[in-house]
Amino acid sequence: MNQEVAEKQIVLSGIRATGQLHLGNYLGALSRFAEMSRNPAYFGMFFVADYHTLTTLQEARLIKYHLPNIVLDYVAAGIDLSNTAIYAQSSVPQVTELTWLLSCLTPVGELTGQASFKQKSKQQPDLINAGLLIYPVLMAADILGVCANFVPVGKDQQAHLELAALVARKFNHQFGEYFPIPDALTGEMITVPGLSVPDTEGRFSKMGKSDKNTINLSDTPDEQSAKIRACPTDPQKVRKNDPGRPEVCPIFQLHKAITSAEDIQEIQTACLSGQLGCLECKARLNDHISTTIANFRARRQGLEPYKAQIVGDTLAAGKSVAAGMFRTTLEVVRDKMGLVRY
Ligand code: TRP
Repeated sequence: MNQEVAEKQIVLSGIRATGQLHLGNYLGALSRFAEMSRNPAYFGMFFVADYHTLTTLQEARLIKYHLPNIVLDYVAAGIDLSNTAIYAQSSVPQVTELTWLLSCLTPVGELTGQASFKQKSKQQPDLINAGLLIYPVLMAADILGVCANFVPVGKDQQAHLELAALVARKFNHQFGEYFPIPDALTGEMITVPGLSVPDTEGRFSKMGKSDKNTINLSDTPDEQSAKIRACPTDPQKVRKNDPGRPEVCPIFQLHKAITSAEDIQEIQTACLSGQLGCLECKARLNDHISTTIANFRARRQGLEPYKAQIVGDTLAAGKSVAAGMFRTTLEVVRDKMGLVRY
């Protein structure tokens, strides 16, 4: 690691290669990453968590397809490549070595008790693989291997991050101070709801690659507006002038994630009083989304013809930075844990 990077705070986050990135990824992750990458106090480490993807693997060719697209999405989001490493997790196999070392510090109860483990085991009861169980240890290795200070993740990853912090503290206590305790920065993160109705308890699910409720960054403007038009709204608002209930409407939830506070207020009042019809409300949402991602879309299209080259160069540069950091960490950690290089 060069001197300059050593003086910066490391910001790290990863995205699994399970599908095409969507508006939620853009607002919640990519645009934040880009912003942080331009802050000279930080150095960004943004990777594609392809090892993690294997825990729920459906088809091998999907990782090969999605990973380069995600890398190009990172680049198109305006991440400053001179102050960031973008890499594929599996190109740094030291991650798995550190995973083993950290797994020996992780109480198994912390793993079986994870909400995400229980949920994923329920989703794939025919194969609750060991990878699902140690998923958070692999994530701790991602984070601690580069001594990350900040890990911007959504609420759903909070528990995993806490586990990483616990393992870091345990290591420091048992073997001597080394790891910084990673912090989530969740205050700055937003969760973007999907194009789907709330559950019976009124909760909206987040926009998720596997939930089929997404506006993909690769959607054309026509595909985008068609999805918005097809999205259900308040079932009790049948005619344009019926008063609506914004709190049960996914379109209103999305407005809240993307529209200015002033407009949100106005939309809410107009919906409640029956002055605003769903069609118009949807058209306004569609415009806001298009404006927000216009630059991204243009850049993404411009990069597409050079995809192989850009992805190859970006990942090679990122791998070299990340692997260097992991090697440094592993030297210290192996030594502190009593392993000798024979
Ligand atoms: N588990 C994260 C997710 O599914 C992805 C991830 C893997 C990650 N390793 C990480 C995020 C390390 C932050 C830090 O969203």
